[in-house]
Amino acid sequence: MQTVRQLPELRQAISAFRDAGERVALVPTMGALHAGHMALVDAAKRAADRVAVSIFVNPTQFGPNEDFAQYPRKEMADSAMLAKAGVDLLWMPPVEVMYPDGLETTVSVSGVSEVLDGAHRPGHFDGVATVVSRLFEQVTPDVALFGEKDWQQLAVIRQMVADLGLKLEIQGVVTQRDDDGLALSSRNAYLMPEDRAKAVALPRALGAAERAIADGGDPEAALAQARETMAAAGFEIDYVELRDAATLGNPIPGKPRRLLAAARIGKTRLIDNIPVGG
Ligand code: PAF
Repeated sequence: MQTVRQLPELRQAISAFRDAGERVALVPTMGALHAGHMALVDAAKRAADRVAVSIFVNPTQFGPNEDFAQYPRKEMADSAMLAKAGVDLLWMPPVEVMYPDGLETTVSVSGVSEVLDGAHRPGHFDGVATVVSRLFEQVTPDVALFGEKDWQQLAVIRQMVADLGLKLEIQGVVTQRDDDGLALSSRNAYLMPEDRAKAVALPRALGAAERAIADGGDPEAALAQARETMAAAGFEIDYVELRDAATLGNPIPGKPRRLLAAARIGKTRLIDNIPVGG
């Protein structure tokens, strides 16, 4: 695996792939890798000849009171995992390469960015869309892979790619979960053991709501029940909502729906989502 930190080396590595007629996949990450990221790498290997992974803890997607400083950084362990998984290229730009002096453009996607997490974390999706568009320009992938755990992020990126006419494919990869159902996340490392035990109430509440709605139950009653179960387990809830899966607006009859939730247990904010059948 080649590790590069500067744009000229990156461009050289990508040109070598292109000269050999190879398709390139990008897996953008902020590091602290876990099995969820490795599922993205596996899907990337199936989707392209060469796999590039980026690790960049992006300051612009963290709010002023969020966990940018504490966000886990595990460069050595991450690099070893990626090399073992057969990744070809690791792109780890320093902040001045990602955000050089004089950069004045922010990418902001209206609508889908403004609800749910966008309402609770103002500016978050502008930071995501801006860094992801820069990563696309730097790596020029044919396909980029994102985890469905960050469903709204995936929806924002799909909208951005469609609106800007970017010539790449976006693939979502199904959420990886611990044995008890908790979605894998780098932030699970923050959970104290007693909070980790309570955290399972989140996927369980979503699962119960999904079954009730799919069986024809009243969605509002199912959501209220989910909020009650989570609050009883000790969660402080930001939202538990049923939305149109693509726009994240109100559900539209006949269109795919998604249950999405964000809530804090102890000091850790968790998000999760599942599709709703029926
Ligand atoms: O999902 C993440 O890890 C980040 O939001 C991303 C897509 C790498 C952008 O910084």
